[in-house]
Amino acid sequence: MFAVIGHPIKHSLSPELHKIAFKMMNLDYCYTKVDVPPEKLDTFMKSANIIFKGLNVTIPHKEKILRYCNRVDPLAEEVKATNTLKFGDIVECYNTDVKGVRLSIEDVTDPKGKRVAIIGAGGAARAAVVAFYRDAEVAIFNRTYEKGKRIGEEFGIKAYPLSEYEKLKDYDIIINATPVGMDGKSVPFPPEVLRKGQVVMDMVYRPLYTPLLLTAMRKGATVVNGLKMLVIQGLESEKIWIGKAPTWRHVYSKLLASLSPIITS
Ligand SMILES: NC(=O)c1ccc[n+]([C@@H]2O[C@H](COP(=O)([O-])OP(=O)(O)OC[C@H]3O[C@@H](n4cnc5c(N)ncnc54)[C@H](OP(=O)(O)O)[C@@H]3O)[C@@H](O)[C@H]2O)c1
Repeated sequence: MFAVIGHPIKHSLSPELHKIAFKMMNLDYCYTKVDVPPEKLDTFMKSANIIFKGLNVTIPHKEKILRYCNRVDPLAEEVKATNTLKFGDIVECYNTDVKGVRLSIEDVTDPKGKRVAIIGAGGAARAAVVAFYRDAEVAIFNRTYEKGKRIGEEFGIKAYPLSEYEKLKDYDIIINATPVGMDGKSVPFPPEVLRKGQVVMDMVYRPLYTPLLLTAMRKGATVVNGLKMLVIQGLESEKIWIGKAPTWRHVYSKLLASLSPIITS
């Protein structure tokens, strides 16, 4: 049995994606979602290894749950957050968001040597920094400049306040790693700066096409939605838990077909 934990967790699509993947592999595994408020995390973790073989972890536990890990994989260590726990003799922690964002972008362009702008400075933004800073020119744009600046210093990359969004026109790849757009109305920065030739990714996947992506499309940019990342990071978790997973494209198209009336509205 597997689960995703978070608070709130009602809107998570992880159970749907793992059910599709397990069925494709003819595996009779269960995957559920559990609402764990921050004050209940300690109690939950005391018995989690008895009930579950593995967990996905989402907001607000990705950083705090590291304290229950006996072994932290190097990517999770670098991001300082984990989204995948594997229970055995010890608790192993991984971060599959890094591969999720990297492969989502690689599906449409080779990021090597490109200028990559990451909007936000939370756990998802840190995963994106770790995914690209070694072989691309990465910059952070964040509403609270100090927070972005700290990440900039840590990884040796540029950081700007989001108010300097006009600089975004000089970037090849722009990734929204804030929750802005989930309401189907708001944008993290004025999207007029977007242009043809850019790749614009939104980590938000509900709605599937956020106002940012819709404007990017109108401007002629290539867009990448957050559902792709959700699927890729989820299947990377399965590889850690059970050593295999179906190809992400198959799971992505099945999930899209089953959910499109819900997530496109
Ligand atoms: N598709 C996927 O698989 C996937 C995976 C991971 C995360 N995500 C999504 O990515 C988003 C970010 O996750 P997270 O864990 O990094 O969250 P987080 O730790 O709460 O960070 C949120 C960031 O967004 C910024 N922000 C929030 N509201 C803003 C606004 N109105 N205007 C400008 N900036 C704003 C915050 O800026 P300040 O520093 O100024 O507060 C902060 O840097 C969430 O929507 C999450 O669901 C998707």
